[in-house]
Amino acid sequence: MNKSLVVITGHSKGLGKALMHHYLSLDHYEVIGISRSTLDVESPKLRQVSLDLSDLDILKNELEEVFPKEDYQEIILINNAGWIGEIKPIGNMHPREMRIQVNVNLLAPMYLTNAFIKAYKNHPSRKLVCNISSGAATRPVAGWGGYCSTKAALAMFTMVANKESGSSDFRFFSLAPGIVDTEMQAEIREAAETDFPELKKFLEFKEQGELVNPEDVAKKIEYLLSNPDQFPEVSQDVRHYEIS
Ligand SMILES: NC(=O)c1ccc[n+]([C@@H]2O[C@H](COP(=O)([O-])OP(=O)(O)OC[C@H]3O[C@@H](n4cnc5c(N)ncnc54)[C@H](OP(=O)(O)O)[C@@H]3O)[C@@H](O)[C@H]2O)c1
Repeated sequence: MNKSLVVITGHSKGLGKALMHHYLSLDHYEVIGISRSTLDVESPKLRQVSLDLSDLDILKNELEEVFPKEDYQEIILINNAGWIGEIKPIGNMHPREMRIQVNVNLLAPMYLTNAFIKAYKNHPSRKLVCNISSGAATRPVAGWGGYCSTKAALAMFTMVANKESGSSDFRFFSLAPGIVDTEMQAEIREAAETDFPELKKFLEFKEQGELVNPEDVAKKIEYLLSNPDQFPEVSQDVRHYEIS
């Protein structure tokens, strides 16, 4: 048995799409992609699941069915789906958008991590969970109240999962991907400066070519997950290591 499985949320765009293509290009990986939309990609190694991760009923009732019972050499969960949310100062945020953001950025990866451990704790495979974090998990950014908070909470959840895992064959990472050239960055650049004082800086990142390609980040994430022994800490940042 030499096949491996990677489950990627938010596979339809940006970093998740690059991760999906990268893993599909590697012979032994099967991919399950979870997003609201699906992609026109024909591959016998890809299963796309259309789910709205902000829907609490779906989180409660459907997530456990996502994980196949077959044996794999290695099983990876990458909780990548995320939403920058409404870019507004606290006091002007809308409860509906706040709830959607907490569900997508925090509750969904918590539910999925929980379901993943439950599904595979007795499997002999190597098991890895990579929760995509952000520099915003440790740095307060005006206008990003929901984003900073949900990323910080997810990073702590990942650290607790790691602490509980002890000497088991699970590994957990909270991984910051850098500033990546995706639709999320385009959404950030559309914010009003009155709501988002750092707007100019983010416009300059794009103008000065400082955003990184999602494909390059996907390769670095796959490298880390293929060589976890080189990365003993739970919290990682792709900007802190190079691959050849
Ligand atoms: N881009 C950056 O500079 C940057 C920096 C730091 C961290 N990150 C993190 O990296 C991850 C990927 O970001 P990205 O820049 O690639 O974002 P993106 O281009 O906006 O893509 C977001 C992905 O999440 C999915 N998604 C959003 N809401 C969903 C929902 N309700 N249900 C299911 N799927 C949902 C989207 O799919 P559908 O729309 O089809 O549902 C899409 O595939 C996120 O966790 C983000 O916070 C990004």
